[in-house]
Amino acid sequence: LVSDMKGVKAGKLRLAVITTAKYFVPRLLGPFCDLYPGIDVSLKVTNRERILQRLMDNEDDLYILGQPPEHMDMQVEPFLENPLVVLAHGGHPLAREKNISIKRLAEEPFLMREAGSGTRLATERFFAEQGLSLKVRMELGSNEAIKQAVAGGLGVAVLSAHTLALEKSSDELVVLDVEGFPIRRQWYAVYARDKQLTVVARAFLDFLLHESQKISLSYMKCIPGFQALACDDK
Ligand code: PGA
Repeated sequence: LVSDMKGVKAGKLRLAVITTAKYFVPRLLGPFCDLYPGIDVSLKVTNRERILQRLMDNEDDLYILGQPPEHMDMQVEPFLENPLVVLAHGGHPLAREKNISIKRLAEEPFLMREAGSGTRLATERFFAEQGLSLKVRMELGSNEAIKQAVAGGLGVAVLSAHTLALEKSSDELVVLDVEGFPIRRQWYAVYARDKQLTVVARAFLDFLLHESQKISLSYMKCIPGFQALACDDK
Protein backbone atom coordinates (compact mmCIF):
# COMPACT_ATOMS: atom_id res chain seq x y z
CA LEU A 1 0.00 0.00 0.00
CA VAL A 2 2.68 2.47 1.05
CA SER A 3 4.89 1.79 -1.96
CA ASP A 4 1.96 2.33 -4.35
CA MET A 5 1.55 5.80 -2.99
CA LYS A 6 5.16 6.89 -2.82
CA GLY A 7 4.40 9.79 -5.11
CA VAL A 8 1.88 11.34 -2.72
CA LYS A 9 3.93 14.02 -1.03
CA ALA A 10 1.61 16.94 -0.70
CA GLY A 11 -1.90 17.97 -1.49
CA LYS A 12 -5.27 18.61 -0.03
CA LEU A 13 -7.88 16.13 1.14
CA ARG A 14 -11.41 17.38 1.68
CA LEU A 15 -13.59 14.89 3.55
CA ALA A 16 -17.22 15.21 4.57
CA VAL A 17 -18.72 12.57 6.86
CA ILE A 18 -22.02 11.96 8.62
CA THR A 19 -22.07 12.53 12.35
CA THR A 20 -21.54 8.95 13.49
CA ALA A 21 -18.38 8.57 11.38
CA LYS A 22 -16.70 11.13 13.60
CA TYR A 23 -16.25 8.30 16.11
CA PHE A 24 -13.95 6.60 13.65
CA VAL A 25 -12.57 8.78 10.84
CA PRO A 26 -10.59 11.34 12.88
CA ARG A 27 -8.84 8.50 14.67
CA LEU A 28 -7.83 7.03 11.33
CA LEU A 29 -6.43 10.36 10.21
CA GLY A 30 -3.65 10.00 12.80
CA PRO A 31 -1.86 7.10 11.11
CA PHE A 32 -2.80 8.42 7.64
CA CYS A 33 -1.15 11.78 8.30
CA ASP A 34 1.89 9.98 9.76
CA LEU A 35 2.23 8.16 6.44
CA TYR A 36 1.68 11.28 4.35
CA PRO A 37 2.75 14.25 6.48
CA GLY A 38 2.55 16.68 3.57
CA ILE A 39 -1.19 16.27 3.14
CA ASP A 40 -3.47 18.95 4.39
CA VAL A 41 -6.79 17.50 5.57
CA SER A 42 -10.11 19.19 6.17
CA LEU A 43 -12.98 17.26 7.69
CA LYS A 44 -16.59 18.38 7.68
CA VAL A 45 -18.93 16.53 10.05
CA THR A 46 -22.66 17.00 9.49
CA ASN A 47 -25.92 15.14 8.97
CA ARG A 48 -27.07 13.11 5.99
CA GLU A 49 -29.13 15.82 4.35
CA ARG A 50 -26.27 18.34 4.43
CA ILE A 51 -23.79 15.75 3.20
CA LEU A 52 -26.07 15.04 0.21
CA GLN A 53 -26.23 18.77 -0.48
CA ARG A 54 -22.43 19.02 -0.39
CA LEU A 55 -22.25 16.05 -2.74
CA MET A 56 -24.53 17.79 -5.21
CA ASP A 57 -22.50 20.98 -4.93
CA ASN A 58 -19.26 19.03 -5.39
CA GLU A 59 -17.65 20.59 -2.32
CA ASP A 60 -15.45 17.71 -1.13
CA ASP A 61 -13.27 14.88 -2.47
CA LEU A 62 -14.85 12.01 -0.58
CA TYR A 63 -17.97 11.41 1.53
CA ILE A 64 -18.92 8.92 4.21
CA LEU A 65 -22.60 8.11 4.66
CA GLY A 66 -24.72 5.51 6.42
CA GLN A 67 -26.88 4.82 3.40
CA PRO A 68 -25.98 5.33 -0.26
CA PRO A 69 -27.60 8.34 -1.91
CA GLU A 70 -30.63 7.50 -4.02
CA HIS A 71 -31.10 8.86 -7.54
CA MET A 72 -27.49 9.95 -7.94
CA ASP A 73 -24.83 8.32 -10.07
CA MET A 74 -22.26 7.55 -7.40
CA GLN A 75 -19.38 5.23 -6.83
CA VAL A 76 -20.22 3.52 -3.54
CA GLU A 77 -17.89 1.41 -1.39
CA PRO A 78 -19.26 -0.24 1.77
CA PHE A 79 -16.48 -0.60 4.32
CA LEU A 80 -17.68 -1.25 7.87
CA GLU A 81 -20.72 -2.41 9.83
CA ASN A 82 -22.72 0.39 11.40
CA PRO A 83 -25.38 -1.26 13.58
CA LEU A 84 -28.12 0.87 15.13
CA VAL A 85 -29.00 -0.04 18.71
CA VAL A 86 -31.58 1.02 21.29
CA LEU A 87 -30.14 2.91 24.26
CA ALA A 88 -31.74 3.40 27.64
CA HIS A 89 -30.69 4.51 31.10
CA GLY A 90 -29.31 1.69 33.27
CA GLY A 91 -32.19 2.04 35.71
CA HIS A 92 -34.83 1.76 32.98
CA PRO A 93 -37.51 -0.91 33.62
CA LEU A 94 -36.64 -2.57 30.27
CA ALA A 95 -32.90 -2.62 30.98
CA ARG A 96 -32.84 -6.17 32.27
CA GLU A 97 -35.49 -7.64 30.00
CA LYS A 98 -34.73 -10.08 27.21
CA ASN A 99 -36.20 -10.05 23.73
CA ILE A 100 -38.38 -6.97 24.21
CA SER A 101 -41.06 -6.70 21.52
CA ILE A 102 -40.92 -3.79 19.08
CA LYS A 103 -44.46 -2.93 20.04
CA ARG A 104 -43.52 -2.67 23.70
CA LEU A 105 -40.53 -0.50 22.84
CA ALA A 106 -42.72 1.85 20.80
CA GLU A 107 -44.66 2.70 23.98
CA GLU A 108 -41.57 4.41 25.41
CA PRO A 109 -40.90 8.12 24.95
CA PHE A 110 -38.25 8.53 22.24
CA LEU A 111 -35.42 11.01 21.82
CA MET A 112 -34.90 11.71 18.13
CA ARG A 113 -32.22 13.32 16.01
CA GLU A 114 -33.14 16.38 13.94
CA ALA A 115 -34.94 16.15 10.58
CA GLY A 116 -32.33 15.49 7.89
CA SER A 117 -30.51 12.90 10.02
CA GLY A 118 -29.90 9.49 8.43
CA THR A 119 -30.17 7.83 11.84
CA ARG A 120 -33.60 9.31 12.26
CA LEU A 121 -34.64 8.28 8.75
CA ALA A 122 -33.56 4.67 9.33
CA THR A 123 -35.33 4.59 12.71
CA GLU A 124 -38.58 6.00 11.33
CA ARG A 125 -38.49 3.56 8.42
CA PHE A 126 -37.93 0.62 10.73
CA PHE A 127 -40.95 1.42 12.90
CA ALA A 128 -43.13 2.39 9.94
CA GLU A 129 -42.44 -1.03 8.38
CA GLN A 130 -43.83 -2.56 11.58
CA GLY A 131 -46.90 -0.34 11.31
CA LEU A 132 -45.86 1.53 14.46
CA SER A 133 -45.39 5.22 15.10
CA LEU A 134 -43.16 6.61 17.80
CA LYS A 135 -43.90 8.90 20.69
CA VAL A 136 -41.22 11.53 20.23
CA ARG A 137 -40.53 13.22 23.53
CA MET A 138 -37.77 15.47 22.30
CA GLU A 139 -35.68 16.29 19.23
CA LEU A 140 -31.97 16.85 19.77
CA GLY A 141 -29.42 17.94 17.19
CA SER A 142 -26.52 15.66 18.10
CA ASN A 143 -25.71 12.09 19.08
CA GLU A 144 -23.87 13.26 22.20
CA ALA A 145 -26.82 15.36 23.36
CA ILE A 146 -29.06 12.33 22.89
CA LYS A 147 -26.73 10.11 24.92
CA GLN A 148 -26.75 12.64 27.76
CA ALA A 149 -30.53 12.92 27.64
CA VAL A 150 -30.90 9.13 27.69
CA ALA A 151 -28.50 8.96 30.65
CA GLY A 152 -30.62 11.62 32.31
CA GLY A 153 -33.68 9.41 31.99
CA LEU A 154 -35.60 11.48 29.44
CA GLY A 155 -36.33 8.55 27.17
CA VAL A 156 -34.86 5.88 24.90
CA ALA A 157 -33.12 6.39 21.55
CA VAL A 158 -31.87 4.54 18.50
CA LEU A 159 -28.27 5.45 17.68
CA SER A 160 -25.28 3.96 15.90
CA ALA A 161 -23.37 1.58 18.18
CA HIS A 162 -20.27 3.53 17.21
CA THR A 163 -21.48 6.43 19.35
CA LEU A 164 -20.54 4.22 22.32
CA ALA A 165 -16.91 4.03 21.17
CA LEU A 166 -15.27 5.82 24.09
CA GLU A 167 -17.98 5.14 26.63
CA LYS A 168 -16.65 3.67 29.87
CA SER A 169 -18.75 0.71 30.77
CA SER A 170 -21.15 2.09 33.28
CA ASP A 171 -24.75 1.73 34.19
CA GLU A 172 -25.62 5.08 32.73
CA LEU A 173 -26.26 3.80 29.22
CA VAL A 174 -27.34 0.27 28.33
CA VAL A 175 -28.19 -1.35 25.03
CA LEU A 176 -31.68 -2.87 25.17
CA ASP A 177 -32.34 -6.37 23.87
CA VAL A 178 -35.13 -5.66 21.38
CA GLU A 179 -36.37 -8.01 18.64
CA GLY A 180 -35.20 -6.91 15.20
CA PHE A 181 -32.25 -4.99 16.65
CA PRO A 182 -29.58 -4.08 15.95
CA ILE A 183 -30.70 -2.61 12.64
CA ARG A 184 -27.84 -3.73 10.43
CA ARG A 185 -26.32 -0.99 8.33
CA GLN A 186 -22.95 -0.13 6.86
CA TRP A 187 -20.87 2.90 6.29
CA TYR A 188 -20.23 3.79 2.67
CA ALA A 189 -17.45 5.81 1.09
CA VAL A 190 -19.01 7.71 -1.79
CA TYR A 191 -17.90 9.93 -4.66
CA ALA A 192 -19.41 11.03 -7.94
CA ARG A 193 -18.89 8.47 -10.69
CA ASP A 194 -18.01 11.12 -13.22
CA LYS A 195 -15.43 12.67 -10.92
CA GLN A 196 -11.81 11.65 -11.13
CA LEU A 197 -10.55 11.07 -7.58
CA THR A 198 -7.43 13.08 -6.77
CA VAL A 199 -4.31 11.03 -6.01
CA VAL A 200 -4.62 12.06 -2.38
CA ALA A 201 -8.29 11.06 -2.14
CA ARG A 202 -7.48 7.72 -3.78
CA ALA A 203 -4.70 7.18 -1.21
CA PHE A 204 -7.13 7.90 1.61
CA LEU A 205 -9.86 5.68 0.19
CA ASP A 206 -7.40 2.76 -0.13
CA PHE A 207 -6.18 3.43 3.40
CA LEU A 208 -9.77 3.52 4.69
CA LEU A 209 -10.81 0.27 2.99
CA HIS A 210 -7.67 -1.44 4.24
CA GLU A 211 -7.48 -0.11 7.80
CA SER A 212 -11.18 -0.36 8.61
CA GLN A 213 -10.85 -4.15 8.41
CA LYS A 214 -8.68 -3.99 11.50
CA ILE A 215 -11.00 -1.86 13.57
CA SER A 216 -11.81 -3.57 16.80
CA LEU A 217 -15.49 -3.89 17.37
CA SER A 218 -14.72 -4.92 20.94
CA TYR A 219 -16.83 -2.15 22.40
CA MET A 220 -19.78 -3.71 20.61
CA LYS A 221 -19.35 -6.98 22.46
CA CYS A 222 -22.26 -6.49 24.75
CA ILE A 223 -24.76 -5.65 22.04
CA PRO A 224 -27.63 -8.13 22.25
CA GLY A 225 -28.20 -9.78 18.89
CA PHE A 226 -24.82 -8.73 17.57
CA GLN A 227 -22.77 -11.55 19.05
CA ALA A 228 -21.76 -13.19 15.80
CA LEU A 229 -19.60 -10.28 14.81
CA ALA A 230 -18.98 -8.62 18.11
CA CYS A 231 -17.55 -11.54 20.01
CA ASP A 232 -15.10 -12.59 17.30
CA ASP A 233 -12.22 -10.80 18.94
CA LYS A 234 -12.77 -11.90 22.51
P1 PGA B 1 -26.82 11.15 10.48
O1 PGA B 1 -26.44 9.89 9.59
O2 PGA B 1 -25.57 11.63 11.13
O3 PGA B 1 -27.39 12.07 9.45
O4 PGA B 1 -27.84 10.66 11.47
C1 PGA B 1 -26.04 8.70 10.17
C2 PGA B 1 -26.31 7.56 9.25
O5 PGA B 1 -27.03 7.70 8.25
O6 PGA B 1 -25.79 6.46 9.57
